[in-house]
Amino acid sequence: MSVKSQVVTFLEENRGEFISGGKISKALSVSRNAVWKVIKALEIEGYPISAVKNRGYCLSEKSDILSEESIKPFLKTEILGGDISVFKAVDSTNNSAKIAAQNGAKEGAVVLSESQSAGKGRLGRNFFSPVGTGIFMSIVLRPKFSAENATLITSCAAVAVARAIENLTGLDVKIKWVNDIFIGGKKVCGILTEAGVNFEGGTLDYAVLGIGINVLTAEFPEELRDVATSILLENGAPISRSRLAAEILNVFEPLYINLLDKKFMEEYVSRSNLIGKELTVFCGESSYKAVAIGIDGDARLIVRNNGGEEIALSSGEVSVRPL
Ligand code: BTN
Repeated sequence: MSVKSQVVTFLEENRGEFISGGKISKALSVSRNAVWKVIKALEIEGYPISAVKNRGYCLSEKSDILSEESIKPFLKTEILGGDISVFKAVDSTNNSAKIAAQNGAKEGAVVLSESQSAGKGRLGRNFFSPVGTGIFMSIVLRPKFSAENATLITSCAAVAVARAIENLTGLDVKIKWVNDIFIGGKKVCGILTEAGVNFEGGTLDYAVLGIGINVLTAEFPEELRDVATSILLENGAPISRSRLAAEILNVFEPLYINLLDKKFMEEYVSRSNLIGKELTVFCGESSYKAVAIGIDGDARLIVRNNGGEEIALSSGEVSVRPL
């Protein structure tokens, strides 16, 4: 670990407290001058650090810089987050993670960015990703199971994100089939899993799990205002993006390791905000009205159309909108 990483980790672990340069240099076995140089560099990067004579340095409790060092102190994982890369701007963290996966990144490698210029949503949509407001995170996975189970990764991640937000805020978090997380009737997060398939074996070379969360967004553009929200707006107070990113990885890891037992599906179903609702089902150019009556063990939405016929919908093919 570089001296910079060590100093940031030390400050992160002692957020809100003043620590003398001498104490930091002793704890890390580096010179006081090296500590001072790192602190100056961090200040230039925008870290909110107070330096007070005879007291030392203090990283503000409110610091919300996303970095490997700010996330790792909260991680309790074995596999996820072993490697964490944080960028200021990328087109899409899913694209960056795919390139990393193709270049041999290990399972659990995480790519985050402060912003995305072309954040991707499902069905070719764009994901609003302005600087410093969200968690735009992609995780490289190397599942051992077959490609047909890949959709379960998204459902499993939806449960992990919902539970992680609830753990940190106490808010009531719902899942809108198939991959959206809702709070107070509006979307706060979307999930997009993209797979690299080995066509010969029908297995997955890798999967990239992309999670986009509106965490600190104070205002949305006109076209999103009625449908999107943020944790800040719902919670009435900011939460640390680093803590939330770590909590998602902590909750997701055991669910993912045991994915094929599908135990997470019980929670997926109990968090559904669609079951019992009247919907419009969009399928290519056509659409029809139906009632959502359940979600099966493969995360397919079961709807009953006006003719009384029951239809199991798979995520890739349709989108649904409550009436
Ligand atoms: C959706 O709402 O349909 C899915 C949105 C997924 C957005 C995330 S943000 C991180 C990752 N990178 C992307 O380009 N997309 C996903």
